[in-house]
Amino acid sequence: MATSCLPVGSPAPAISLRTTDGQVLRAGPPGMPRVLAFVHDWRLADEHVARLRALLRGLGAEMTVLSPAGVWSVRPDDPVERLPCAPDRLAGAVRATARLYDVPGDADAVFVIDEHDVVAFAHAPTSSLAGLLAGALGAAADALHSRTTPPVTFTRRAWATSCLVTGFAVALFGCKGGDKPATPGPGAETAVTPAPSPPPPAAPADLDIVLHVNGTQRALTIDPRTSLLDALRERLGLVGTKKGCDGGQCGACTVHVGGRRVVSCLTLAAMAQGQPVTTIEGLGTADKLHPMQAAFIAHDGFQCGFCTPGQIMSAVALLEEKHVTSDAEIRESMSGNLCRCGAYPNIVAAIRAARGA
Ligand code: FES
Ligand code: FES
Repeated sequence: MATSCLPVGSPAPAISLRTTDGQVLRAGPPGMPRVLAFVHDWRLADEHVARLRALLRGLGAEMTVLSPAGVWSVRPDDPVERLPCAPDRLAGAVRATARLYDVPGDADAVFVIDEHDVVAFAHAPTSSLAGLLAGALGAAADALHSRTTPPVTFTRRAWATSCLVTGFAVALFGCKGGDKPATPGPGAETAVTPAPSPPPPAAPADLDIVLHVNGTQRALTIDPRTSLLDALRERLGLVGTKKGCDGGQCGACTVHVGGRRVVSCLTLAAMAQGQPVTTIEGLGTADKLHPMQAAFIAHDGFQCGFCTPGQIMSAVALLEEKHVTSDAEIRESMSGNLCRCGAYPNIVAAIRAARGA
C-alpha cells in the first residue's frame, strides 16, 4: 500500500526552512543528486552514521531528513548535522514542505531528486521509512559498485541518481516486500517500477600495490577499482587532498603523479604505481613552506580553504609547465580548479607572485 505524492518527472519544489536566526536552509546543493526523506519517527543510531556517510560518499549524494522532531543533513564528509530550526515552528514548517511534495500530513515519503532538480523516484508508503533508509542506500551503493565498466552515456551524477533510484526501489519493494501494490492505480503509486536486475558480478579479487607517495613507499591491498583519491584519504590518511565532486569537475583532489597534475578522483590507484605521487602534505612543511604555499598566505588566496590544496598543487604544476605569460593564461590554466568562495583574484595574484619569485 502507498499513498499518493508528487510524481516522478515533476520539478522538485525548493524546500526552504528557516533556522532559529532566520537563515534559509536548503536541501543539498543544486546540480547534485540528493535524497529527501520525510520520516516521522527518525532516530539515527550512532552505529549507522558511519555507514550512511560512507554510502552517501560512494554515491556522491546528500540526504536531508525532515521530521516533526528535527531536520537532519547527512553528508558524506561531515558529521550528521541537526539543522537549527525553531522547535515551536518546526512541525508546521515540515508539514508545509511535505505539502509541496503532496505528502499527506501523517505519511512518510522518500524522494530521489536528480541533478536537474527533477523528481526521479517518489514513494510514500503507509508504513514507517525509518528503518529502510540505510538499506536503500546500501542497495544503491551495491548497484554503483557492481558496475563492470563506466556507462559511457551517463555522467557520474546521472549514474548516482540511477543507483539511488534502484536502491530505493529494491529496498522498498524488493527486499522488504509488502509495500508493493498489486495493481498500481491512478495516483496510487508514483515510484518507478524496477526492472528485474541480474545478480551483480562477483567483486574482482583484491590487488597488492605499492605507491610511492611523498618520498615513501606504501604497500596496500586494494579493490582494483579504488581511486587514487580514496587510497590517499581512506587508506593512507592523507586527507589534505580533498574530495569535492568526485567526478573530475572541481579540481579539489589535484595531486601530482610523475610530476604532472592529475585529478585523483578519476585516477585508479593501481595506475599510479611506479611513479612518484606528491600530495599537499609532501609539498612543504609548517617550518618550511613551499613558495606557492607562502604566496597563497601572503595574498589571501583562500577563504574557507577547502579548494586550496588542489589550487596549490595545480599552481605548482602550472609553473613547472612553463607556458603561462599573463594573468589571462594563469586563469585559463587554472580553470579546472573551482573555488566556491570566489577567491580567484587573490589566487591569481598569489600565482603571479610565486612566478616572479
Ligand atoms: Fe572534484 Fe576530483 S573531487 S575533480
Ligand atoms: Fe573556499 Fe576556495 S577557498 S572553496
